[in-house]
Amino acid sequence: MNANELRSKYIEFFKSKNHVEISGQSLIPENDPSVLFTTAGMHPLVPYLLGEKHPAGTRLTDYQKCIRTGDIDEVGDPSHLTCFEMLGNWSLGDYFKKESIGFSYEFLTSPKWLGLDPRKISVTVFAGDENAPRDEEAAAAWIANGMPEDKIAYLPASDNWWAAGPTGPCGPDTEIFYWVGENLPPKGSNKGTDPENWLEIWNNVFMQYNRIDEKNLELLPKKNVDTGMGLERTNCILQGKKSVYLTEVFQPIIKTIEKLSNYTYGTDEEKDRSVRIIADHARSSVFILGDQKGVSPARVGAGYVLRRLIRRAVRHGMKLGIDKDFMAEVAVTVVENFKIAYPELEQNKNKIFSELTSEEAKFRQTLKKGEAEFEKMLPNLMKNPKKIISGKVAYNLYETYGYPLELTQELGAENGFTVDVEGFKEAEKKHQEASKTAEVGAAKGGLAEQSDVTTKYHTATHLLQQALIDVLGEQVAQKGSNITNERMRFDFTFDRPMTKEEIQKVEDIVNEKIKEDLPVTMQVMPLDDAKKAGARALFTGKYGEDVKVYTIGRDAENDWFSKEVCGGPHVQHTAQIGQFKIQKEQSSSAGVRRIRAVISGGLPLDKH
Ligand code: ALA
Repeated sequence: MNANELRSKYIEFFKSKNHVEISGQSLIPENDPSVLFTTAGMHPLVPYLLGEKHPAGTRLTDYQKCIRTGDIDEVGDPSHLTCFEMLGNWSLGDYFKKESIGFSYEFLTSPKWLGLDPRKISVTVFAGDENAPRDEEAAAAWIANGMPEDKIAYLPASDNWWAAGPTGPCGPDTEIFYWVGENLPPKGSNKGTDPENWLEIWNNVFMQYNRIDEKNLELLPKKNVDTGMGLERTNCILQGKKSVYLTEVFQPIIKTIEKLSNYTYGTDEEKDRSVRIIADHARSSVFILGDQKGVSPARVGAGYVLRRLIRRAVRHGMKLGIDKDFMAEVAVTVVENFKIAYPELEQNKNKIFSELTSEEAKFRQTLKKGEAEFEKMLPNLMKNPKKIISGKVAYNLYETYGYPLELTQELGAENGFTVDVEGFKEAEKKHQEASKTAEVGAAKGGLAEQSDVTTKYHTATHLLQQALIDVLGEQVAQKGSNITNERMRFDFTFDRPMTKEEIQKVEDIVNEKIKEDLPVTMQVMPLDDAKKAGARALFTGKYGEDVKVYTIGRDAENDWFSKEVCGGPHVQHTAQIGQFKIQKEQSSSAGVRRIRAVISGGLPLDKH
């Protein structure tokens, strides 16, 4: 079996259990300021886990591209990835623990599906704490399926409680592990007794709680199931390989890197690490650049993460002795390998290649600047009799010029200096702590918060998009939006700055539509019908897939102002939005403009 087959089998299995296949979504979360990237398959489904009705029903399945950069520094070892695919199935108030566990066990062990050896599978369940009791129901379901009692480990919340963010849907989970040790697991071995030899492949979360704040949980209106299986890992164990990098998911990328560097993978541990870092980061960069809502390298936010990924890859390319721009060449292989499952990569390939090339060139320029800066500092450094470059100086070169520590060490050594690496790490830690605090601040609203204010902003983005198209023409297309309780940002394609008059006109149209107090209505229909009806869709869906269409206007068929495919939620009528004001119109990236706007006043939303 290979990854493509595993992906298809998973979807096919859950379809056979009456699930509807839905499309995975963009890597950039919609209307969620608390996270930079989609980090799990459930992410786009948060509103539905909180109780919104999903147009495709109560049993769903999909595959979703995800980015997790929390452990970026560990990438390079044989198992960590910054970009991965998650296979998922959901019950929105439909089945619960017993069926969910039954489905998972059948899919893993039945010869008709994956046919894994049951002796090599063990599980963990939630041990219980002040929030929720020990999960006897999950344990009983495992035992009913034939899982020996000594292969069930009861672990605390740190292992067996899952939440996507500081607030939002969460709950106890049961995790499924595969034996990666020698031969068969000894009797009584499980994740609790032998953590090293059991690799997590699947997580079933029983989401029946909503975290409101640090202290308080409430029960959700429905008991949901959210599961996620790591595609690359499961594919790897199915092939009996020691590392995801040895599977067909990464081998073609590694072959390209081998060609570019004249290095053969598997001959030197340090160089292998560089190859893995390039392979992983190139894949992530391609997925981020080629996303439906494509991000470009930038100084902040998701664009900054992208920049770091590209630069780190280039740096490791240099370590392998690649002395020319190479990222675009690696990217060709990535696009080729993943374009069937992710057609947006093929559609956006020119952007991917050109942005990679320009970012790589910029980085090489940066390195030159760092060197020049070092030369300038040299006379002063020479006065230091100990010939030590302080951590602070090295860190400053890194932070300001992007000049990597290893290069400062190299340049230093050429001039008889050593670098205070401990001091560098301390400076780095201080900086990271400072930015973590900022991140926590940014996440304060919480992942799932759908407060009335953000709902109003959300409807305002629909009005804004249509007003922009009316004033500027069909060239305008939404590239992304970002909403907090304080403001909205809206990115759209347009090739020049807007004039003052145009900005005023757009603002006036939005305010006029608010004043007209137009009803906002929702209909569910297949994506193709939605497009035929004139709905704008950022969404790339499967043929025939049911979607929600929000219409703003007196008559959803004959007299409307805006129609968009969108997950909601929205206000019931536009007067609820209040006064709309554009604060700024500026460039976001090449060919993309960004509007920042605020709303104020408005009417309260009806209670549902
Ligand atoms: N949302 C769960 C996870 O990402 C399934 O592990």
